[in-house]
Amino acid sequence: MFNIVKGTHDVIKEEAKKYSYIEEALANFATIYGYKEFRTPIIENSELFTRSVGNSSDIVRKEMYTFEDKGGRSITLRPEMTAGTIRSMVNEKLFAIQDYPVKAFYCGPNFRYERPQQGRYRQFNQFGVECAGVTTVERDVEVIALAYSMLQFLGFEDVKLSINTLGDEETRTNYKNALKEYFSKHVDNMCSDCKERFNLNIMRILDCKVESDRKIIDKAPKISSYLSTNAKEKFDKTLNYLKDLDIPYVIDEELVRGLDYYTGIVFEFHYTSKNGNNYGAICAGGHYGHLISEIGGPDLEGVGFAFGIERLAKVMEDDGLFPDLDDGIDLFIMPIGEKARNFSVSLAYNLRNLFFSTEICYEDKSFSQMFKKAERRNAKLALIIGENELEKKEVTLKDLNTKEQETIKIDDLLKVLYKYFEQDEHNHEHSEHECCCGHHSHQDCDNDDHECHHEHDESDHCCCHKHEK
Ligand code: HAM
Repeated sequence: MFNIVKGTHDVIKEEAKKYSYIEEALANFATIYGYKEFRTPIIENSELFTRSVGNSSDIVRKEMYTFEDKGGRSITLRPEMTAGTIRSMVNEKLFAIQDYPVKAFYCGPNFRYERPQQGRYRQFNQFGVECAGVTTVERDVEVIALAYSMLQFLGFEDVKLSINTLGDEETRTNYKNALKEYFSKHVDNMCSDCKERFNLNIMRILDCKVESDRKIIDKAPKISSYLSTNAKEKFDKTLNYLKDLDIPYVIDEELVRGLDYYTGIVFEFHYTSKNGNNYGAICAGGHYGHLISEIGGPDLEGVGFAFGIERLAKVMEDDGLFPDLDDGIDLFIMPIGEKARNFSVSLAYNLRNLFFSTEICYEDKSFSQMFKKAERRNAKLALIIGENELEKKEVTLKDLNTKEQETIKIDDLLKVLYKYFEQDEHNHEHSEHECCCGHHSHQDCDNDDHECHHEHDESDHCCCHKHEK
């Protein structure tokens, strides 16, 4: 037995289905907003993150999985996906060859050496978007609105959107000076992180969670008193748009975010599930003024966000927000005896090729044991194949829901199945032109001489002949 690496977790079976559901829903939404998928490498040159996420961030200082590869290069497992996505836009020269903004969405694992706890892992998944090459407040609003719509689509009500602005250069210079003056009187009594932040990036002190420090931080100067006219106008405009769109928000002046690339608007979405669980921000993002040029691109700005899939899935599970993701199967085949088992191999093969999810019991089991297995697999139909029936080219089909059963000709099986799943409003996309006795369809088969083993209704299904419908 090998223990799983601390801070990581297996995502299997039902949970994996939930992750896929979230990721697919978010990808569909992002596509509607004109985003294209980007799949960038999990490993990047370490310098990408020290430059972008920043030397003063906890991520770069303490949390990166960095190693030297066999060629002596410093490589880092990505701790987030904004930097890699923008690097890719720059490397692919997208800013030179396409209209702005360049819109990317992405999904994948990230790695941070954090203290594992509820909703905090060392390997975790994000889904995010980057809207790069933006000049207007409207793009910031569009991106916040996208995250909000996504959460609504997933069934969230009462998400809390916290928003702040980090202003422009003028704002930040004046505000940092004010903070320096204030914290210089207190920093000696604050935690070691705050002491470091005092020198590295003083605004990050506002993010400290240590209770005794909070009392000092609460009385610190607020950024709203230092906003330049331009920064204030932009922030007010953003908030007015959010009001117009009926997107509720609270201004949180202590929201500074843990990555150094933010300038302007920053935001986080929080949610407390009905049983009181809150795993931290489920989505976070903001505007970055210099990231693109720092990574070697043109002097353009961008805005984006990322959802934490683990946290989203947890609160959705807590509040029952997932639809029925039943992974039941269509058919459970129960062959009785050697000949039936032989027949079942090709039958199952062909049915699966026609997209019927099918399981078979090849083991020698009693009827009741086989039915229990079918039940555990949440099968809709049981297909019982006895030796005598097989000689008569018949099988028995049992609806495991209504418990009704009928004996049918093998040649009619496909017709019966299509009818059943149509009535079941099962969203099967089976081709009407295919046959369970072979691998061909009307369209595929151009061998007119090929003999079909079964007799088919001319107007119906055939595997081998080009019938006119
Ligand atoms: P972040 O706030 O570091 O921002 O991460 C975004 C989200 O990822 C968080 O709100 C949280 O849901 C999830 N997350 C972060 N760390 C962990 C962890 N250790 N375990 C589980 N979930 C976690 C960014 O990464 C930025 N790149 C977002 C962004 C995109 N800004 C602009 N564009």
